[in-house]
Amino acid sequence: MKIVKTLLELRSARATFTGSLGLVPTMGYLHRGHLSLVQSARAENEFVAASIFVNPAQFESVDDLDDYPRDLERDLDLLDTHNVDLVWAPDRSEMYPHGYQTYVTVNQLTSGLEGGRRPGHMRGVTTIVSKLLIAFRPDRAYFGQKDAQQVCVVRRLVADLGFPVEVVTCPTVRESDGLALSSRNARLSVDQRQASTVLFRALSAASVAFAEGQRDGDKLCGLMSDVVATEPLADARYIAITEVETLQDLRQLPEQVLASLAVCIGQVVLIDNMVLGET
Ligand code: PAF
Repeated sequence: MKIVKTLLELRSARATFTGSLGLVPTMGYLHRGHLSLVQSARAENEFVAASIFVNPAQFESVDDLDDYPRDLERDLDLLDTHNVDLVWAPDRSEMYPHGYQTYVTVNQLTSGLEGGRRPGHMRGVTTIVSKLLIAFRPDRAYFGQKDAQQVCVVRRLVADLGFPVEVVTCPTVRESDGLALSSRNARLSVDQRQASTVLFRALSAASVAFAEGQRDGDKLCGLMSDVVATEPLADARYIAITEVETLQDLRQLPEQVLASLAVCIGQVVLIDNMVLGET
């Protein structure tokens, strides 16, 4: 596995790959969710690359950025074990050189959910993903369904700017009790970890009600909110039922909708989602 730091090194390493390339963009502190993306990329491409970069532009606050867990050595070992060919782990100054002022924005899709609550977050994501797609020129790029809005926004970005890449969405990987894997889970105390299953419980309740015929979006949101309220350590940031691709709010529901929520457990904000009515 080749590990590079600078854009110039990345370009020359990239030039040696003549077959299809799958890219797994990450912010490191890898878990089984990331590794499932690597496995999909490995199965579908001749070469696999990953990036590790904790992107300051997508964090709400300096504290949140500083608290984000990091372990580069361990990440590199894991990627090596999973037969990744190339890793780019740039410094901040390599990604955002002195005087940096160019950003990529997707408008409407970013106005609700995470984008609505975290000003600048989605702009940070779309900027860094654009830079990664330009630098790596992958044939396929892999993202987890856990960040459902990110996937919709990246698909829009790729279509609008005509990036020659296929965006591949991989299913959310969960712990046995339903908690979606996230690097942020490492920051939960034992009690908070127990409380964190409330996101999956709320989504599951909405899924059951939807399967039983409930098609009133407000009622489904109310149901999820009631489940979250049963957990004293949890505080709902948003709960939404939206169209799956446009992320528009819905009242009378079609046969497939996206249920999403963000919940604060102490200082940690967890997000999760489920497509209801998925066959
Ligand atoms: O999903 C993530 O880890 C990040 O948002 C991404 C796509 C690597 C961009 O920084």
